[in-house]
Amino acid sequence: MARDFSSVGVVGLGTMGAGIVEVFARNGVDVVAVEVSEGALERGRAILTGSTDRAVAKGKLAEADRDALLGRVQFAVGLDALHSVDLVVEAVPEHLDLKQRIFAELDRVCKPEAILATNTSSLSVTEISVATTRPNQVIGIHFFNPAPVMKLVEVVRTVVTSTDVVADVEALCKRLGKVDVTISDRAGFIANALLFGYLNHAVGMFESHYATREDIDAAMKLGCGLPMGPLALMDLIGLDTAYEILDTMYRRGGRDRRHAPVPLIKQMVTAGLLGRKSGRGFYTYERPGSPVVVPDEQTPVTAESALGDARAIAKVGIVGSGTMATGIIEVFAKAGYEVVSVTRGAEKSAKVFEVVKTSLNKGVVRGKLSEADRDAALGRINWSATLEHLADVDLVVEAVVEELSVKKALFASLDEICKPGVVLATTTSSLPVIDVAMATQRPADVIGLHFFNPAPLMPLVEVVETIRTSAETTATARAVCTALGKTGVVCGDRSGFIVNALLFPYLNDAVKMLEASYSTADDIDHAMKLGCGYPMGPFELLDVVGLDVSLAIQRELYLELREPGFAPAPLLEHLVTAGYLGRKSGRGFRDHTRR
Ligand SMILES: NC(=O)c1ccc[n+]([C@@H]2O[C@H](COP(=O)([O-])OP(=O)(O)OC[C@H]3O[C@@H](n4cnc5c(N)ncnc54)[C@H](O)[C@@H]3O)[C@@H](O)[C@H]2O)c1
Repeated sequence: MARDFSSVGVVGLGTMGAGIVEVFARNGVDVVAVEVSEGALERGRAILTGSTDRAVAKGKLAEADRDALLGRVQFAVGLDALHSVDLVVEAVPEHLDLKQRIFAELDRVCKPEAILATNTSSLSVTEISVATTRPNQVIGIHFFNPAPVMKLVEVVRTVVTSTDVVADVEALCKRLGKVDVTISDRAGFIANALLFGYLNHAVGMFESHYATREDIDAAMKLGCGLPMGPLALMDLIGLDTAYEILDTMYRRGGRDRRHAPVPLIKQMVTAGLLGRKSGRGFYTYERPGSPVVVPDEQTPVTAESALGDARAIAKVGIVGSGTMATGIIEVFAKAGYEVVSVTRGAEKSAKVFEVVKTSLNKGVVRGKLSEADRDAALGRINWSATLEHLADVDLVVEAVVEELSVKKALFASLDEICKPGVVLATTTSSLPVIDVAMATQRPADVIGLHFFNPAPLMPLVEVVETIRTSAETTATARAVCTALGKTGVVCGDRSGFIVNALLFPYLNDAVKMLEASYSTADDIDHAMKLGCGYPMGPFELLDVVGLDVSLAIQRELYLELREPGFAPAPLLEHLVTAGYLGRKSGRGFRDHTRR
């Protein structure tokens, strides 16, 4: 018969433990909440009451239910209070020796049939279990942060965990309203194994001044639809915890350099900058434990003064007739710029015109655009098949085929045609902007403007500075993005810029995980959506983006950065060779023909 978990214990009431207490108590389970000292106990109690008070204030929890919830929790110092619980979830800091000591003690204190669970993110559950005389009753129950909100629980089974313990814990997760995935004991399990390389890489970008914290976070939120940027997430996780997780993953996970904690993390931990819990991490918070970010010395100055150097832009030339060029023409025309569209012929111009018109019409049908505004936008576009018409524009946006020789030739022509002081922008997503810049006599005026597809909808533009780009050119590009209603993030001229450099290695890692048969595509997709709040799982996204496109980007990253961990997953290569390119070919990681 399945175990009845009427009373559970939680050890450690920090970032995770306090949330785990709330999850149990909300679902009618009595909880004994244990800390190491009276002070820590009070801090844990404050996290719990703060969270439940916020839920009441937001109307998500009735006052009576909050009182009943808090009434189910008994607070205590020391493990002895856990003598009669049916299950213990340990959530103390991520140190193996500490956890082993606690498990040996729990083994002594708890009744013989009690299940002992760890919330570790990266340590070996097996190694923790052997500190007890009941390793078959030891299991990993890995909640996600914040525990009351995130739906996923990774249930970690070691080679000795008994099957009925696994089944009972799975049933408990369902009772708690969680979705569980059961996996074996490997460093980082599913979600953290895919998440932490990405987080560490983002910290590396910040440390090397590749982009600001605001721009890195905005890029991932707006470019990928993530609920928060990587540096804000590091602050939520806690830098001390993140450091330990990375360090363990590095040591347990094959010494992948991408998991070697970026030195800045250790420095911040030493300086007490632990993230939200200490009131300061990558960002500064209103007070310790608060989610409210307040300005500090790194906060960018207000838009107007920062854009003081920007040149005035009224007339914009857009070269190209593909998906990106078409979307960008619409964006500029809608924002009130006079546009000169240059394609390779009247036929192409007519096609682009139709697409832009259809798209604007959709806006009218949806009530987002008046007929008069649509007509005005269309009226602002001049159609041309010759570059000579760009002689008097203030900005050129190039969006032709992704081939360096073609782009270089085009920029050399622009250099001869355009008036001095014009900003010349390329929309390349993978070529070095400096190569294009050096095809002109005015590299200081050349910059990357990496729009995302579909350009009229996606709010992000990566503004790519080369080592020759002038501050004035960057300020102009930023001002243009703002005038277009987009968020421009400034970054250096490296393969993948911000978004692709952070996104594709993660997707590639997911493919490697599948290839190693650690989990299924469905469970991996679930884990990232429910554990990290991603809008799509990695395999869903790969099928949408296209496996061939993803492979090409991953190859570029690997070639430029020479990071062994970036080598494309062999399975990805094979699928592309087999013609399984994703949705567009009917089959990728999933078969799309049967839906
Ligand atoms: N932070 C996250 O996002 C996250 C997510 C999932 C899992 N985890 C895992 O959860 C565990 C806890 O991490 P955290 O971020 O909550 O850490 P934390 O530092 O916020 O909290 C740890 C708590 O444990 C207490 N503690 C220390 N020694 C103790 C002892 N001997 N007895 C009782 N309590 C003790 C501390 O006082 C502190 O309150 C770690 O294993 C971590 O890897 C963390």
